Amino acid sequence: MTSWLAGPLVAVLGLSAVSAAESEAPERDYQVPLPEAPAGEATFTPPAERDIPDNQYGEMVRKGRDLFVNTQQLRGENVFNDQNCSNCHLDAGRLADSAPMWASMGVYPAYRGKNDKVNTMAERIQGCFTYSMNGVPPEYGSETLVALQTYFHWMATGAPINQSLPGRGYPGLEETGEAPDRGRGAEVYADQCAVCHGDNGQGQKVGERQVFPPLWGDGAYNWGAGMHRVNTAANFIKANMPLGKPYSLTDQQAWDVAAFINSHERPQDPRRRTLASVDETDEIFHQHMGFYGDEIDGQRLGDHDDYGENPR
Ligand code: HEC
Ligand code: HEC
Repeated sequence: MTSWLAGPLVAVLGLSAVSAAESEAPERDYQVPLPEAPAGEATFTPPAERDIPDNQYGEMVRKGRDLFVNTQQLRGENVFNDQNCSNCHLDAGRLADSAPMWASMGVYPAYRGKNDKVNTMAERIQGCFTYSMNGVPPEYGSETLVALQTYFHWMATGAPINQSLPGRGYPGLEETGEAPDRGRGAEVYADQCAVCHGDNGQGQKVGERQVFPPLWGDGAYNWGAGMHRVNTAANFIKANMPLGKPYSLTDQQAWDVAAFINSHERPQDPRRRTLASVDETDEIFHQHMGFYGDEIDGQRLGDHDDYGENPR
């Protein structure tokens, strides 16, 4: 019953109409963000790239794919770090357990706890620009957003709508009963990660091209990004790193190395710009598994005005 009707109706029918309607209404559940994907092997296969159609739709699919794997072409406009979308969504967004885009397309619009509202796919993409790319999100209706969505839509050809498919997101790791340990994580990092990501997490370039992404510092994801959460990084790492050796780390190693990486400095959380202090940002946005606002080796993480290259 819409509210403009309720008033006159109540007046005509008497007060009992309201309480009867209320008691019949199903209880409103407190909505949790998107459920985790069901466990098990992915069963959906996205279409092969050679089957991208040769028409205007296909051109937009190709444009979206090109933006997804070489997002650096938007550097200085929408991207202000060294990342490409495919750094965290592997194999051009096709790989199961690496937050693949074919599994993502059908679950939006969806409620997100992060901003406490229903998000369209366009808004979800904008979120990864703001935080993971330390960037300025492309505007609604911009060709960039249209192209990325068209690419995801094509990859999801034949996938069910509004259903979390196996392989979606990063698979959740159980807690081990032992807290993640940065010290042990540093050893895992030196042994198995530094060869590609660098001793100081700076990644590696060949000429101007970033071949291995930085994991901390100005070129990395910022303090608002999902990947800065220790659990999210542990999930990603277990299923995807070291590159080419998925699921080779023990659960404890994945937790430890995630804690090590995410206890290093990175660009400020952009939401800090409109808040009074690091304390306030910490209290409102960082009540989860992460090091923002914590003191590590005598330094308080996130206590700075370094937004990387982002000018806003
Ligand atoms: C630094 C890592 C990183 C980069 C770079 C990145 N993302 Fe993400 N993205 C994430 C994480 C983390 C999630 C949340 C996955 C989870 O929690 O399961 C996510 C989720 C998403 C989702 C929702 C997936 C779902 O199934 O709900 C979309 C869509 C998305 N990213 C698009 C993009 C696009 C487009 C780009 C490039 C502009 C991008 N991402 C760059 C880390 C990244
Ligand atoms: C053989 C090289 C190699 C090794 C070894 C390696 N990585 Fe990676 N890593 C990559 C590449 C390449 C990407 C980006 C994937 C892509 O673009 O296809 C990546 C992406 C990542 C990301 C995504 C975050 C971002 O900001 O882009 C994280 C986190 C990560 N690696 C952590 C680790 C950890 C932890 C280890 C060690 C256990 C490790 N990696 C070992 C090559 C490597």
